[in-house]
Amino acid sequence: MRAFANSIITWQKQFGRHHLPWQHTNGPYAIWVSEIMLQQTQVAAVLGYYDNFMQRFPTIAVLASASQEDVLQYWSGLGYYSRARNLHEAAQKIVDEFAGVFPTHLDDIISLPGIGRSTAAAIATFALKQPTPILDGNVKRVFARHFLVDGFTGLPKVAAQLWQIAERENPTGIDQAANAISYTQGLMDLGATLCTRTKPRCQACPVNLTCAAFAQKIVHILPMPKPRKATHQKEVTMLILLDGGEVLLEKRPQKGIWAGLWSLPEIDMHEIASEVTFQRFGLEVEAQEPLAIVQHAFTHFKLAITPQPLLIIRKHQTQLPPSFISMAIEDAIGAAIPTPVRNILISL
Ligand code: ADE
Repeated sequence: MRAFANSIITWQKQFGRHHLPWQHTNGPYAIWVSEIMLQQTQVAAVLGYYDNFMQRFPTIAVLASASQEDVLQYWSGLGYYSRARNLHEAAQKIVDEFAGVFPTHLDDIISLPGIGRSTAAAIATFALKQPTPILDGNVKRVFARHFLVDGFTGLPKVAAQLWQIAERENPTGIDQAANAISYTQGLMDLGATLCTRTKPRCQACPVNLTCAAFAQKIVHILPMPKPRKATHQKEVTMLILLDGGEVLLEKRPQKGIWAGLWSLPEIDMHEIASEVTFQRFGLEVEAQEPLAIVQHAFTHFKLAITPQPLLIIRKHQTQLPPSFISMAIEDAIGAAIPTPVRNILISL
């Protein structure tokens, strides 16, 4: 057997969990129910539901003939209710297609609603004496760290790499059957108690000496999260040039965002509004307090707009440049202007 499995098994026997209610059951039904409840849910939460559920639905036949409402009632509070609906539906499928007996072939098990490859493997290992590699969320984390698999585990290429590891490390040989339960339970226990997502307790880990992430001090960055699309943040100041009840608008270029719309004139964040206004328009202005920043999301970036009101106090040019227009604020609100600009004008 490989050293990794050996360490996990020895550790599980001494430090793993041995008193979970489903560990002292016979047969695949009780294990199946536990594995479904434990999907996306911690052991502590499941403990309050498992025994009640098993008392009310002690066999596949009882579950299959119950109403969906009754099943959901016993699931109420556990969350992710599609699990309960699938469990119920799968029980009916077992009655209809497998003569009421839980199937023993892995492909048949996976064909049941709500049972994926890892859940099927856990049932086969714990209840059917068929040691089969598992790969649930906790085990992905253990493998990604110990064997240093980087990349988001949701990517097919990364998942395939992890499944290869799961198969390679699964104990084989004459002692396989005896140890498979300890190994599989050990991986789950390690992921849930020591190799946790935050604050892993590496000092107590049975495989820390061979853990690649521990050696390279990168345990906390593995497994890698889903890559987020970079959203650029842009900042701009919009000038609200006020002349009595009128506001100055600028026609935007025919290309780019808000192409061809009337909008408030823009300057870069680091420019000084009153100076730019004087140079560009020949207007002397009195700057007021900027208004609250307005956030606007585009597909590829976010725009943070600082609206800067400026009262026009003197005009040094008689004519505005041709791409500018002075409009009554009410008319501007009704004109073809961008939504955040309209909102800014409405808020004046
Ligand atoms: N999570 C999924 N299956 C489990 C099991 N059998 N024991 C503890 N946690 C689990």
